[in-house]
Amino acid sequence: MTNRASSTHDLASSIDPKLRVVFVGHVDHGKSTLIGRILNDTNSLPEGKLEQVQRACAAENMEFEFAFLLDALLEEQEQNITIDTTQIPFKTVKRNYMIIDAPGHKEFLKNMITGAANADAAVLVIAANEGVQEQSKRHAYLLSLLGVQQFCVVVNKMDLTDYSEARFREIEDKYRQFLKTLNLEPRVFIPASARFGENIISPSKKMMWHKGPTVADALDDMAPLAPPVELPLRFCVQDVYKFDERRIIAGRIETGMLRVGDELVFSPANKTSIVQSIESWQPRSDNASGRANNETAIAGDSIGITLREQIFVERGYVGSHSKNAPIETNRFHADLFWIARQPARLSYLYTARLATQEVRCQIVSLDEVMDSSSLERSATKAEQLERNEVGRMTLQTRAPIVLDNHDRVPPLGRFVLVDDGMICGGGIIHGGVYTDRAAVKSKNIFWSEGKINAQARAAQHGHRGAVIWLTGLSGSGKSTIAQALERELFVRAMHPYILDGDNIRHGLNSNLGFSPDDRVENIRRVSEVAKLMSDAGNVVITAFISPYRADRQRARAIAMEGNAEFIEVFVDAPLAVCEERDPKNLYKKARAGEIREFTGIDAPYEAPVDPEIVVQTHQQSVEESVATILERLLPRLK
Ligand code: ADX
Repeated sequence: MTNRASSTHDLASSIDPKLRVVFVGHVDHGKSTLIGRILNDTNSLPEGKLEQVQRACAAENMEFEFAFLLDALLEEQEQNITIDTTQIPFKTVKRNYMIIDAPGHKEFLKNMITGAANADAAVLVIAANEGVQEQSKRHAYLLSLLGVQQFCVVVNKMDLTDYSEARFREIEDKYRQFLKTLNLEPRVFIPASARFGENIISPSKKMMWHKGPTVADALDDMAPLAPPVELPLRFCVQDVYKFDERRIIAGRIETGMLRVGDELVFSPANKTSIVQSIESWQPRSDNASGRANNETAIAGDSIGITLREQIFVERGYVGSHSKNAPIETNRFHADLFWIARQPARLSYLYTARLATQEVRCQIVSLDEVMDSSSLERSATKAEQLERNEVGRMTLQTRAPIVLDNHDRVPPLGRFVLVDDGMICGGGIIHGGVYTDRAAVKSKNIFWSEGKINAQARAAQHGHRGAVIWLTGLSGSGKSTIAQALERELFVRAMHPYILDGDNIRHGLNSNLGFSPDDRVENIRRVSEVAKLMSDAGNVVITAFISPYRADRQRARAIAMEGNAEFIEVFVDAPLAVCEERDPKNLYKKARAGEIREFTGIDAPYEAPVDPEIVVQTHQQSVEESVATILERLLPRLK
C-alpha cells in the first residue's frame, strides 16, 4: 500500500487524471526511441538528463539516440528500489501520463500480461520498413485477450521508406484487416519518425498527406478509464492486522463500492459480517472522485476495514455483497497465453495467482490450441501448449479459488500461472457458472455451515463421486479398461479408485467362492464399499464379472442412496474371444473340468439389458473403449 505519487502530483492528477499507457511492438521497431522522443519533446525529462546522455555518448564516441534516454531512465529506476521500475511519467499540455511496462525490458510479454491489463490505452508500434511482423500480431492478440480496447498504431521509421504514403497505407490495410479478426478497432494510424521527431508532437512537413493527429494528439484524445465502480464489489484481502482486540482487514477494492454498514460475504468459506468502519484509506491517486468522508470506498482504493462480528478471513479472501458474489470453485475454463520456453503440460502442478490468491493447480484438459500470430486453431487433443500459443483449457485447483468470468469482472477474471517463481502464462476465465449464494446457504450445502456433505466434497474435489460399474465375462477386458480409465481420470486431477474382483477376493471377500450365493454376497459387499467410497467423493471403478442382473440392479440402488452417479458399463466380448484370450488359463481349466461353476462355461452370465455404456473389446482398442467411456462419463461428473 505504498503511495508513489507526490502530493503536488496528486493535486494535478485529481484535476486531470493521468492516462496509463502501454507501448507495444516488435523489439526493433523503435518503441524506446519513440518514448525517448516523447519524453524529450514534451519536456518531461528530469533536468539535465538530455545533456548528460549526450555527453556520455560523446565520451564513448557514439552517436546520440533517443532510445538511450529511456535506457538511462530505466537504469536509474532500477537502482532506486522504491520506484516501480516499469513506470515512467510524462505530461503533455493536456494531461499527465504514466507509461507502464516500459519497453527495453527483457520480459516484455510477461510484463504485458501482468501490467497491460491495467492500462487505459495502448500504442502499437510498427516499423515502416519491416511492416507487420509475427510479434505485432501477438501483441495485438494480447491486447484483445486482456481487453485493452483504446489504442492507436504508430507506423514508425517512415524516414526509412522515404515518407511514402503508399507504404504507410499498405501497412495500415494489412494490420487493420488482422485487427478486425480480433475485433479490435484502432483509433487511428499515424505515420511517424521517432528518430527525426516527425508527427510525434508536431505535424510533419514531410508527410503533408497525413491529415490525422500526431502521436501526442492521439494520446490526448484518449480518456482514462473510469474506475469500475459500477461492477459488483470485489474487495481482495491482502493482509489482516491485529490491533488490541480489533482486526483490520486490509486490501484493495478492485471493483465496485463498499460502504460502512454493508453486509459482506467473504469467499471462500462464505462467511458474512457487517462493515463496522473503514479505518485507513488510500484512494487511488488518479481517480478524481471527490469523496469527503470515510464511509465509502470505491474501486481502486486500498483500504483497511473492521467487521462488526469477527469471522476468519485471511489473505486471498474476496469480500463481496451476497447478491453479486463471485464464483467459488475448484475447476474453471480459461484461455491461457503461454510465454515460457518450457511448454505447459497437462497435470503438471503450477501455481495460479489471481488477485491476492495463490493456489496450486493443474491443467486437466486442453481442448483447443491457437497460434497467437497466425490465429490458426487446432482442435486436437493436445498434450501441451508451446510458447506463444493460446490454449482453451480446463484447470483444476487443489483448494477452492474465488473468481469471476473475465467479461463480467475483469480483475477477478484473469490470472497467471507460475512455475518455480516464474510467470509462465497469463489467462482469462470464461464460462463459469454463478450460483445464488443466499439460496445455496439456506439449503445448507456449504461446508462452512459445518456439515461436510457430498456437495461440499464435490466442490473441493472438482467433481462428483461416482460408481463406474464394469461388468462382463472373465477375460473380456474389465481390469485392463479399469486401469486405463483410472489413469485418464487421475491425470485430470480427479480421484479414481479401482475395486477389482481378483484383489477384493484376496482380502475383504477372501471367505467367498463362486457359488451363486457367494457371488451374490461378493457383489453386495462390493456395492456397499463402492457406495462409501463414492460418498467420500471418489470415482470408484469396479471390475467384477457380476453375472446377475439383479445384483447389478441392487448395486445401483445402493450407490444412489448415497447420491452418487451410477454408470453401468457392459464390457462386451463374445465368449469365444474371451476363451481365446484366456489370460489366466482359467477357461482351459474350466473346459477340462478342473474348475467348476466357471462363468460362461458352466455358470450363467446375464448380459445388461440397458447399460449406460457398452464397449466392444473385440472391435475397439483399449484407448477407444476408454474414450467411449470418458465421453459419456465426464459430463456426468461435473
Ligand atoms: S463375480 O462373478 O463374483 O463377479 P469376480 O469378478 O469377483 O466374480 O471374480 C472373477 C475372477 O475370479 C475371474 O476373473 C477369474 O480370474 C477368477 N475366477 C476363479 N474361479 C472362477 C469361476 N468359477 N468363475 C468366474 N471367475 C473365476
